[in-house]
Amino acid sequence: MRPTLADATRGRILFGGDWNPEQWPEETWHEDVRLMREAGVTLATVGVFSWASVEPRPGARDFRTLDTVLGLLDDAGIGACLATPTASPPPWLGARHPETLPRDEHGAVVWYGSRNHFCPSSPTYREHALRITQDIAHRYGSHPALRLWHINNEYGTACWCDTTAAHFRTWLQARHGTLDALNEAWGTAFWSQRYDDWAEILPPRRAQYLPNPAHVLDFKRFTSDALLECFTAERDAVTAASPRVPVTTNLMPLFPGIDGWRWAAEEDVVSVDLYPDPAAGPDDPAGAAHGALVQDLTRSQARGPWALMEQAASAVSWRPVNKPKPPGLTRLWSLQAVARGADTLCFFQWRQSRQGAEKFHSAMLPHSGPRSRVHREIRALGAELPALDAVVGTTVPARVAVLHDWPSWWAAEQPGRPSDQVSYPAVLAAWHHALWRRNLTCDLAHPEADLTPYDLLVVPQLYLLGDAALDSLAARVHAGATLVCGFLTGVADPDDRVRDGGTDARLRRILGLAAVHEWWPLAPGETVTLDDGTTGSLWSEDIEPAAPAGATTAAAYATGPLAGHPAITRHRHGAGTAWYVSTLPEPTALADLLSRAAAAAGVEPPLPAVPPGVEAVGRGPLLFLLNHTAAPVEVPLPTPYTDVLTGRHHTTAIPLPPNGVAALRP
Ligand code: GLA
Repeated sequence: MRPTLADATRGRILFGGDWNPEQWPEETWHEDVRLMREAGVTLATVGVFSWASVEPRPGARDFRTLDTVLGLLDDAGIGACLATPTASPPPWLGARHPETLPRDEHGAVVWYGSRNHFCPSSPTYREHALRITQDIAHRYGSHPALRLWHINNEYGTACWCDTTAAHFRTWLQARHGTLDALNEAWGTAFWSQRYDDWAEILPPRRAQYLPNPAHVLDFKRFTSDALLECFTAERDAVTAASPRVPVTTNLMPLFPGIDGWRWAAEEDVVSVDLYPDPAAGPDDPAGAAHGALVQDLTRSQARGPWALMEQAASAVSWRPVNKPKPPGLTRLWSLQAVARGADTLCFFQWRQSRQGAEKFHSAMLPHSGPRSRVHREIRALGAELPALDAVVGTTVPARVAVLHDWPSWWAAEQPGRPSDQVSYPAVLAAWHHALWRRNLTCDLAHPEADLTPYDLLVVPQLYLLGDAALDSLAARVHAGATLVCGFLTGVADPDDRVRDGGTDARLRRILGLAAVHEWWPLAPGETVTLDDGTTGSLWSEDIEPAAPAGATTAAAYATGPLAGHPAITRHRHGAGTAWYVSTLPEPTALADLLSRAAAAAGVEPPLPAVPPGVEAVGRGPLLFLLNHTAAPVEVPLPTPYTDVLTGRHHTTAIPLPPNGVAALRP
């Protein structure tokens, strides 16, 4: 049995951040550890960018810093999340082995001098990365401070070099078997693209005009897999030295570059870095909505508790304008993560850098020191987390699944499509936001996942759907589930080959549609009015319900070229119901529709009446209430509860200040 996050948490929410002692003189390390203890820090991530310090020249080893800092952490009772340093190779590797450096689509070398400058397919990079990983694993595999292995950092580098080309061909041979099969899968009859020899196939480099979309799609799959090989090689090396210590790599939130489902399956602990934009402001909780989406996705990837590996204590340094988090927001968003399944809350980073590209990125201990507002809020958070230890290891029950997949995203966002205004993550976020604002807790699910735990299935947009997914969806709806399905779904098969009828025949049967005849995408700012008075944007469609026993029209287009045609349909399929939504309804209309479908499926929010902007989510024994508005609110309670954060008992209602949080126990 592989270890899990529980082996690291040992019953407590872990709290801490990245610590980069390489950037500081040794006296600072002692002060760091003392201040960490005072702030309630229980986990420090070390070593992420330590390659040049551990291996200052080829083959040399200098473990003095890591030896000392791991010893200091252990003496202080703080756990170590020990990273392999392979995200940022030292300059000597690129200088001596330029073939380890990635090349972009134009063939230009991406030089050292920043970070993530490695070609994932380079055997030389892999060899050096594995060697240093093995040595670190060997030296610290049984160190008493070691709680968690952190492999690399935010994998995502793609490369188009010749080594990558050779590796891509091997990958393609495994996927397609023969060149004929590849030519067929890629539709290379189009534009005379037929390949006569494997050696002719390249990564999709800069070309004269549009590339072959199936080629690009396979390259994205390949890149994700090539990076995953780098991860699993390092994972296996650290596991060999410490089989009981769980392994993670910090994923980027809703990141398009890797297939998050495949990656999560290879990790003991799924962790994510999350930086919602505080500039969204308290009255427009887009930051909190984005957080909720990423948190739901990460929990679903983890199939249980997960780790928030990085967040900002205040401002980041990579947006055009970097606003600090106003008072209380770090706490609110941290407790939101706990409410949505996080058992570990970490920050980037512990001590704010004085030099380098991120010196203006906030930290738990800012330049202005321990008396700063930011640090005081960090301490207060560290002090109150133990009150929430009752949720450690518990789940967030959800009867709604939002279906999401990366290849579908990759295929849907290529050029040469009906509208470049349709952004997959924006559509996904709009639908998730609608569920979130009605407190309908959802998981995200791979389209081929077991859907039996869910009564409401939501498909914002899955352009590409395989046979297994279509069959499973059909079976689940037939057995009684409710499906709400958005436009541009089921259009293509996994090779991006368009299916007949505008959308797959099995999906049309579930939806009670004869055909999706024509897409009428809407221009930026353009809306279409429906006959229920609501509006849609982004998209509209000419759809034909099947006759005689097909879908009924729930709302029709009232304006535009499709006036009089169905816009939203509903259909009984077996014991279930399937809705089709051929536009992007305005936010309230989408939330109303999903609430209606949920209620009909017997799915209710955890509390019946919650003021707008208040998030209510149940986890384990606790019900979390989070006020994302700038105003104080009062939340009516049907039964009495005790807030474990304050110890106060509330019988009929609980007041929440702006950014306020309650964690209620019945
Ligand atoms: C990422 C990285 C960190 C740091 C932060 C800054 O999450 O993993 O090293 O660059 O961003 O926000």
